[in-house]
Amino acid sequence: MHKVAKLILVLFAFIFLGMQFVPTTAIPKASTKDGDPHMAEVINPQVGAILDRSCQDCHSSRTRLPWYSHVAPISWIVSKDVSEGRENLDFSEWRSQSDSGYERALICNAVSSGEMPLPEYTVIHRNAKLSKRDVELICGWAAASNAPMTSPQVGK
Ligand code: HEC
Repeated sequence: MHKVAKLILVLFAFIFLGMQFVPTTAIPKASTKDGDPHMAEVINPQVGAILDRSCQDCHSSRTRLPWYSHVAPISWIVSKDVSEGRENLDFSEWRSQSDSGYERALICNAVSSGEMPLPEYTVIHRNAKLSKRDVELICGWAAASNAPMTSPQVGK
């Protein structure tokens, strides 16, 4: 029995090592450009801070990648989430092109339904979980800003 356990362990070690060589789409690069502002600077600072905290890893080029995000099979999930996340919604584009009311409505929907942030993310990033108050603030902003999006902005 002891031998079998050892064999299984070695087998798993090989599988794990093998996983590291499975080709995957690269995780989209994080931008280190200074020109890529926090959402707190782009929209209403209070709501922007929530989006920075809970969404930017997947929905902007400010993705922070801890070491384990490069280790398969986690890297497979991360590369899929970040590329699909940015494809659907990229806050980094809001610098140059204003967000649409449609996008804001989608955001309110996604957070009210609890669909976003993704549970596979909040299970590790506990502080990314949104409180009821966070959701209210986001939806309030989403509904209010039919005016130019910069209107609630302070000091800029
Ligand atoms: C772990 C990565 C991740 C995080 C964190 C995350 N998202 Fe997403 N988001 C995705 C992915 C992947 C998709 C596309 C697939 C899908 O809709 O499930 C997506 C899709 C969306 C969409 C489009 C939904 C639609 O119906 O078209 C919105 C809006 C959205 N996210 C908002 C947010 C907001 C707001 C936050 C923060 C509160 C957030 N997301 C956090 C990965 C993430």
